[in-house]
Amino acid sequence: MSGIPHDHYEPKSAPEKWIESRLPIIGLLYNTLMIPTPKNLNWMWIWGIVLTFCLVLQIATGIVLVMHYNPSVGGAFASVEHIMRNVNAGWALRYTHANGASLFFFAVYFHIFRGLYYGSYKAPREITWIIGMVIYILMMATVFMGYVLPWGQMSFWGATVITGLFGAIPLIGESIQTWLLGGPAVDNPTLTRFFSLHYLLPFVIAALVVVHIWAFHTTGNNNPTGVEVRRTSRKEAEADTLPFWPYFVIKDLFALVFILTIFSAVVGFMPNFLGHPDNYIEANPLVTPAHIVPEWYLLPFYAMLRAITFDVLFINSKLFGVIVMFGSLIVLFLVPWLDTSRVRSGRFRPMFKVWFWLLVVDFVVLMWCGAMPPEQPFVIISQLGALYWFSFFLVILPLLGVLEKPKAPPATIEDDFRAHYGDPGEAAAQGSAQPAE
Ligand code: HEM
Repeated sequence: MSGIPHDHYEPKSAPEKWIESRLPIIGLLYNTLMIPTPKNLNWMWIWGIVLTFCLVLQIATGIVLVMHYNPSVGGAFASVEHIMRNVNAGWALRYTHANGASLFFFAVYFHIFRGLYYGSYKAPREITWIIGMVIYILMMATVFMGYVLPWGQMSFWGATVITGLFGAIPLIGESIQTWLLGGPAVDNPTLTRFFSLHYLLPFVIAALVVVHIWAFHTTGNNNPTGVEVRRTSRKEAEADTLPFWPYFVIKDLFALVFILTIFSAVVGFMPNFLGHPDNYIEANPLVTPAHIVPEWYLLPFYAMLRAITFDVLFINSKLFGVIVMFGSLIVLFLVPWLDTSRVRSGRFRPMFKVWFWLLVVDFVVLMWCGAMPPEQPFVIISQLGALYWFSFFLVILPLLGVLEKPKAPPATIEDDFRAHYGDPGEAAAQGSAQPAE
């Protein structure tokens, strides 16, 4: 990062020098906090901080919930009721944790689609993207296992359906399923291992977040233009960036307070809005609920799983559904290599923009279909939705690089900033802090 300003810590006082020569931790924190950040970042760059906050919130509330939770088939449901009724502010703790998971996914979907729109996955940020995808998969695993813990009807039947998917794998499927469950069906061993992993995985995610941040601090952030910060001279780099503290910290905190205001209203006034009423009935292996539905954030992938109602050659529909569901995630991993465009940001890609927004609509439609019973017209809509999902990544994205004529991005981040906010130097000279229109 030579030539980039603000990013170097020099210990001044004797104690600082003493620590720095033994463990350069103050320097590391300083350089992280003062990292030069493209000054044209828009409001779509707040989600990383929201996600970090969610991770801390989930771990903190989770640790206290565990103090009162009983991970056994006989005691889990009652212990959750005990938390809600008897533990001081237990209801707030539980509702914050449950809705915190929703906020986490809400933020991650904005974060992912932001990355897709602005081409943040493209070279040299492939590793940041891949680690992000691994985090996302682990988030799904964590939330799935967490949902089993209250031991309600949806917990039990959701676990039965999802672990059953592994049974569709030929030859080894049944053994994998038994291994996951700890026996032939969802029972006490399933609950205890899910509890153990649900507690463990957030810490694995936390470690991966550190690597994620390390990766994009190495390449520098992307920005809405997709144009890189100039690194040839200190003056140019300084014209393209601002230090993360205080500029972006304050902006991100402002956004976080706004989001948390809405979040508190949901926790306080409509805490069960996103949940399923059946999970307030204790798990009963003898009574299957009329519709087994996962939480909203898993619905698009659930819809793709159920979209496959037909056998394909020698592959039966169940196995093909599983392949489609996992395949819909695998294509996301491959995006850095599927996008062949030489222009990074969607802002300058007229054809890409249209297909991208269709993908967003497709995702929402699939989410809706996943919540509906597996009957027509939802099956056909899910099939079309799955078809578009795969077409976007495997056909449209590679072809656009060849067929599309992108607009020219600005030469520098500074130019883009000036085009939006005017020349800060001139504004200051005129005694006005107002950005030019
Ligand atoms: C616990 C989950 C996650 C956390 C805490 C997290 C955190 C962050 C933070 C703080 C940033 C800096 C810029 C910003 O605020 O947007 C960032 C950037 C980025 N994230 Fe994540 N992230 C998470 C998950 C993901 C996922 C699931 C993906 C998608 C695959 C992803 C892809 C990226 C990419 C490509 C960037 C660099 C982009 C840029 O600056 O444009 N992240 N992340």
